[in-house]
Amino acid sequence: MVTLSLLSLSLLSLLGVRGEVASNFDNCKVSFFKNTPVSGLNIALPTPVEPNTQGLKNPAQCLSAYKAVSPAYICQRNSNQYYFATLYDRARRIPLYSAYEMDIKGVPNRPGEIVYYEPQLVHPGLTPNQMNIKGSKSEIKKYNQNNGCNESSTQYQQKYKLGWSQALDDNFGKYDRGHLNAAGHHGNRDAAEATMTHTNVAPQDGTMNKGPWNQYEKKLKDVLSVGCSKMYVVTGVVPSGTWVDQNQRVNVPSHYWNAYCCTDNNGKPLKSGGALGPNTAQDGVTEYNTSVTALETVLRGLLSVGNNFNIFNGC
Ligand SMILES: *[C@@H]1O[C@H](CO)[C@@H](O)[C@H](O)[C@H]1NC(C)=O
Ligand SMILES: *[C@@H]1O[C@H](CO)[C@@H](O)[C@H](O)[C@H]1NC(C)=O
Repeated sequence: MVTLSLLSLSLLSLLGVRGEVASNFDNCKVSFFKNTPVSGLNIALPTPVEPNTQGLKNPAQCLSAYKAVSPAYICQRNSNQYYFATLYDRARRIPLYSAYEMDIKGVPNRPGEIVYYEPQLVHPGLTPNQMNIKGSKSEIKKYNQNNGCNESSTQYQQKYKLGWSQALDDNFGKYDRGHLNAAGHHGNRDAAEATMTHTNVAPQDGTMNKGPWNQYEKKLKDVLSVGCSKMYVVTGVVPSGTWVDQNQRVNVPSHYWNAYCCTDNNGKPLKSGGALGPNTAQDGVTEYNTSVTALETVLRGLLSVGNNFNIFNGC
């Protein structure tokens, strides 16, 4: 046992493997224009604290997301490759935004289902890769066994712990699981597949998701395939007082927003713009195709954030 963990420790340091839920986006800052994350978005709620710890053995070690900081900075990583960045609100169990480089040349190649979870939201020491439900549970099981977390306590059970740290497949009620980083914005199949994670989706009205938002995502691709060398995209949500369920596990955003910045091959900005739409079946007041500056002004009001809220570092 000792030999094994020593071996894996030295292997880990040899490979330079670091946790992907970190206190910043340093490992995936290339997903942002000029390597600069969105600034001034300090709206995440604190990580929920398990209310019932009576009789629990070893809670500090065994409870999911124990004293974890919210938001979580996720460098989305699949099969040891980074794909994009997500700012994750642990209390609302939704991403506040995902930032990515869009593949303007690729052919949309949407793989099937949203299957992945982020084991490091449960315990920081678990695998830094996205994992499906089976893999995530097996990570938690291993952790429980190694740390004396007896699964006869409900709070230590695999599904409970996973669901404490992030939204589960069956937590979306009548809503669609709306992508922030759009699968269709990637030509490379692996990059599209990496968007299929529960930390990249939020409850979205089905009419909006399949209607105007989908059209906007497609149009973005057509419009920008001309002249752009690189395309940086940030897609976010505006949290609301509405939740999918009574227990207030998963928040229903009031709006979805998007901003893009396209550059020439020297990184010089060529075009930029954005969109904002209410998360409802009606899109009466939706602004599709607005300037980034106008979008930021409206969002400062909706999100109650200050003038230091900026999506791009000057695009
Ligand atoms: C876990 O708890 C149950 C019930 O208290 C007990 O029967 C079992 O032996 C415990 N398992 C371990 C591995 O300690
Ligand atoms: C936004 O509007 C401008 C000016 O009308 C147009 O050139 C551009 O293609 C539009 N962009 C999108 C994404 O619709």
